[in-house]
Amino acid sequence: MGVLYVAPGYQPGGKEIDFGKTKEHKVLVVGGGGREHAIVDALSRSIWVSKIYCAPGNAGIAAQAECVPIKDTDVEGLLAFAREQHIDLTVVGPEASLSEGIVDRFRGAGLAIFGHTKAATRIESSKEFAKQLMEKYGVPTAGYRSFTDYQEALDYVSGRPFPAVLKYDGLAAGKGVVIAPDLASADAALRDMLLDNHFGKGKVVVEDYLEGPEFSFMCFVDGDRVYPMPLAQDHKRAFDGDKGPNTGGMGAYTGLPFITPEDKAFALEHILRKTASAMVAEGCPLSGVLYGGLMKTADGIKVIEFNARFGDPETEVVLPLLESDAFDLFSAVAEGREAEQPVWSGDVTMGVVLASKGYPGSYEKGYAIEGLDGVTAKVYHMGTKRQEGSLVTSGGRVLMVVGRGSDIQAVRDNVYADVAKISCPNLFCREDIAWQALR
Ligand code: AMP
Ligand code: GLY
Repeated sequence: MGVLYVAPGYQPGGKEIDFGKTKEHKVLVVGGGGREHAIVDALSRSIWVSKIYCAPGNAGIAAQAECVPIKDTDVEGLLAFAREQHIDLTVVGPEASLSEGIVDRFRGAGLAIFGHTKAATRIESSKEFAKQLMEKYGVPTAGYRSFTDYQEALDYVSGRPFPAVLKYDGLAAGKGVVIAPDLASADAALRDMLLDNHFGKGKVVVEDYLEGPEFSFMCFVDGDRVYPMPLAQDHKRAFDGDKGPNTGGMGAYTGLPFITPEDKAFALEHILRKTASAMVAEGCPLSGVLYGGLMKTADGIKVIEFNARFGDPETEVVLPLLESDAFDLFSAVAEGREAEQPVWSGDVTMGVVLASKGYPGSYEKGYAIEGLDGVTAKVYHMGTKRQEGSLVTSGGRVLMVVGRGSDIQAVRDNVYADVAKISCPNLFCREDIAWQALR
């Protein structure tokens, strides 16, 4: 029998819930970084979920889910596990798993899974596919040309203004983009991408250089249905002042002062919704998260890139604000049912990534991490493991400390106070996360 659910902060207006069916569902989260930790954290707040598994997970996730040692790209292993354990819903974090076709395989086997099909994942995995789609459907983005021949690409770049934007066409973990200030560095990058096959088989997209603040707009998308999330800003460069090499992201925050409600409405209508409809028209509808990496240029908001998944570290600052039930939302998207518009907290969040010294280049692992007990903010683990009882570093990005509140300055002060309590000889962080919110 249905009863009215009136828990504070959840679905104002109430919702019919059959309490006989709560706390009965088993979920498998695929991945093992900070993003997956935030997904597990959101699912752990669901009234529907009795058990969360995470493959492979990490030492922090292990406190909230049972970690299973299956690689995120081992589709057959994951499918066998999901069948054996009678998993009700699988939620996929990493792009690599999606590109392996995990969603096609699970759905083919009759299992519910949140994430895009392999065909739809091309919006991230192929820069050229994304560019052609945007051109065809009039989604605003930088002008471009693509090349497979090194000499042709070099000739084209040498006749154009610098800096030149060169993008390797394929998954490169956020590191396949080179902004070359002059011909010599453009030449080196083109050699790397087209002659040395550094990332795999080479194809390069050369883009117009755009300028303006960047932000991340993630939406839950199920075909034509689009459910926007709060905006976030990542910090892609390794060092303070946005200097140094591009990384996967060194910190993020929500509550962007430089994006107006009109900007957000424009981006939702003319970029995210338009792209979702375009994917339906192309016969590869989306069924997970569409991430727009956008830039507010003097000439309007434009797409820098699309991702076919939750962003990392954006997810760690966005999902804590979700007040609706994450299982309700993820399973509706996974099964193609209409969901209620998600409800989001009005708080702002801000998070700082602690990374291994040397990242995004080579770095050492296995350093002990201490002091987490004294931290009051949320700590999402990105790359940690347990070794003989102690917590040690096991990745490039290691931890993300995330605070929340009504005032970004206060949140930021608290987060950095917490960061100072964490001791590990091999970690570094940026000291200026959210600087654009505090100018
Ligand atoms: P992406 O992996 O495509 O997000 O690119 C990584 C970073 O390179 C972006 O966050 C931007 O800072 C920069 N970038 C990419 N494309 C452009 C462009 N067309 N103009 C200027 N900067 C760009
Ligand atoms: N934070 C950028 C990304 O997830 O690709």
